[in-house]
Amino acid sequence: MNPLWLAEDARDAAHGRLIGADSWIAAGVSIDTRSLQPGDLFVALKDVRDGHDFIAQAFAAGASAALVSDAERAQAHGPCLVVGDVLEGLRRLGEAARDRTPAKRIAITGSVGKTSTKEALAACLAASGPTHKSVKSYNNHWGVPLTLARMPQSSAYGVFEMGMNHRGEILPLTALVKPHVAIVTWIAPAHIEHLGSIEAIADEKGDIFAGLEPDGAALVPNEAPAAHRLRARAEDCASAVIRFGRDAGCEARLLKFEMGETGAVAEADILGRQIRYRIGATGAHWALNSVAALTAADLAGGDLFAAAHALAAFSDIEGRGAARRIAAAFGAFTLVDDSYNANPASMAAAFETLAARKAQRRIVALGDMLELGADSAALHAALAAPLDRAGVDIVFAAGPQMAALYERLPPSRRGGYAETAELLAPQVTAALRDGDVVLVKGSNGARMARVVEALTRLAAS
Ligand SMILES: Nc1ncnc2c1ncn2[C@@H]1O[C@H](COP(=O)(O)OP(=O)(O)OP(=O)(O)O)[C@@H](O)[C@H]1O
Ligand SMILES: [Mg+2]
Repeated sequence: MNPLWLAEDARDAAHGRLIGADSWIAAGVSIDTRSLQPGDLFVALKDVRDGHDFIAQAFAAGASAALVSDAERAQAHGPCLVVGDVLEGLRRLGEAARDRTPAKRIAITGSVGKTSTKEALAACLAASGPTHKSVKSYNNHWGVPLTLARMPQSSAYGVFEMGMNHRGEILPLTALVKPHVAIVTWIAPAHIEHLGSIEAIADEKGDIFAGLEPDGAALVPNEAPAAHRLRARAEDCASAVIRFGRDAGCEARLLKFEMGETGAVAEADILGRQIRYRIGATGAHWALNSVAALTAADLAGGDLFAAAHALAAFSDIEGRGAARRIAAAFGAFTLVDDSYNANPASMAAAFETLAARKAQRRIVALGDMLELGADSAALHAALAAPLDRAGVDIVFAAGPQMAALYERLPPSRRGGYAETAELLAPQVTAALRDGDVVLVKGSNGARMARVVEALTRLAAS
């Protein structure tokens, strides 16, 4: 077993007391008994449910100890580390994990592209040394401390995703991580319902720079909406401000990007060094995400050329544009699963990617983009223009918001509309033909994964 936390180190870090036993070793940290691995320290967080209800299950699954606040309820089950507040205890573990490694820490936020850039950057850095990263989109008030608390002492690099739904959420996260490099990927009207304006979103994202170490570097998306506000904030906080983008003034500049069926070829100038590289993943969004990842890898002390080489082996991420060919009874079609997330920026990027695919017909099945506030109907209807530019042949739509788009479309483009993804799925499956490419996309809450499942079931066994 690889020791991550010794009982006494965890106790000192969390300012807690040990009961039941004082010499356990934890190999990992877990907040969820469904994914807990034997040897993990189980953290009994109070979130949607109270983790104290799951302590018995955690020990049954092989937990080495539990971090708890209610000693009475916990002690019968196994060794515990008792603290006043479990989330605060987890944060303290995170701080201690941060301070005991020399790892360079990179923090990533933005309206789109956090997970994509995090995964690409982690792949880039892994070519230079042991790299720790956030799991999935664990980017909130418990996800970030959990990721820190899980960082092995032997890490050379740590990559942290940071997200927000409301104003004020990024500051405590970046203050905890104290990154050496901080990236804002892009600004778009995601969560605008809570934030009010694009400027407020940019200000919130820009807070990530406030936690930078004194010699830290800020990566700013040069051509993003309200980029000037990000730049101003970066200049206040960072000792180096790096603009990444396509414009001539950028210190990290994309020079060329050509998409193909199985990936892309790109050229960039990264802080004065020109490189040509291949990306093993498909999608227009990799153009700037890859430049941000390579620049951050370089700034964190990684080998730039090894990083670029690693991108060739990088592949699409599940639910974020990964494509698969499905052989059905009527012929073969390509399914592009982008059902995990959607906002106007990622929709436009996905349509552009679709345009680059070879296809008999280009079909999209779109679900609502959520949390877009008062302009929601207009933002949905405005997708008509990028759909047109991408030469999309048929549009299926689900959900009350997507109705605004569907009504705007010429009858020749309308494939079908339904109130929900479940009701839309049979319409899409019935329409497919040999040689089609179908993109399925919507906010996670719009449940377009249901359409993906229905399409997957068309595979002839
Ligand atoms: N720079 C970008 N510009 C536009 N779209 C992008 C960009 N990067 C990724 N995307 C697309 O946005 C969607 C979400 O990507 P990703 O999961 O990386 O974002 P995220 O910021 O981590 O989202 P979440 O807030 O859900 O954690 C995917 O459809 C992806 O293809
Ligand atoms: Mg994410």
